[in-house]
Amino acid sequence: MWSDSALDIRAYTAEDRRAVVALWQAAGLLRPWNDPERDIDLCCSSSESEIFVGVREDRAIAAIMVGHDGHRGWLYYLAVDPGSTGQGFGRRMVEHAEGWLASRGVPKVHIMIRETNLDVQAFYRRLGYEDNPCRVMQRWLDPAAGALAAPKTADPGAGTSD
Ligand SMILES: CC(C)(COP(=O)(O)OP(=O)(O)OC[C@H]1O[C@@H](n2cnc3c(N)ncnc32)[C@H](O)[C@@H]1OP(=O)(O)O)[C@@H](O)C(=O)NCCC(=O)NCCS
Repeated sequence: MWSDSALDIRAYTAEDRRAVVALWQAAGLLRPWNDPERDIDLCCSSSESEIFVGVREDRAIAAIMVGHDGHRGWLYYLAVDPGSTGQGFGRRMVEHAEGWLASRGVPKVHIMIRETNLDVQAFYRRLGYEDNPCRVMQRWLDPAAGALAAPKTADPGAGTSD
């Protein structure tokens, strides 16, 4: 476990499930086409992906999902409790996930952010992230999830929609 006086960062355990889903909900990251419990289960089924939880005073106040595909690393579901933002916890969670990737020899990390989500882009720029000139394309392998995503709402809000 990595820690300092303000935040302990440790790997997710099954006991964290409700708190982590609640954090993602509070941070506005949940989408109808993404079942967070299923995403947690899939992540936990691989040794090449992990969820980290940031704990302060026995309460989960931050979480991030990280993984790699054998080539590049990816970050998902970064959330800091709305009452705890602006204190460096988001940066700590990202740096911890980056360290996890680097320890596995992964040379580069990516994050998908909605083009309209300027706040999160600014956050990642502050952490040294740059625009990637590649276009991300997708195809749903789960038609049911794809059908939920199909009727585009005006703007689903902050965070990723992937
Ligand atoms: C985005 C989020 C994780 C940031 O967490 P946070 O704990 O407030 O961020 P930090 O305090 O660690 O900020 C780190 C740096 O980014 C800067 N920063 C944070 N938000 C910023 C913003 N909206 N615009 C510009 N800079 C910003 C901070 O000033 C800080 O800079 P410094 O370290 O040089 O002083 C948090 O606001 C959140 O959970 N948002 C909702 C969920 C979400 O959108 N997640 C991203 C999914 S892609």
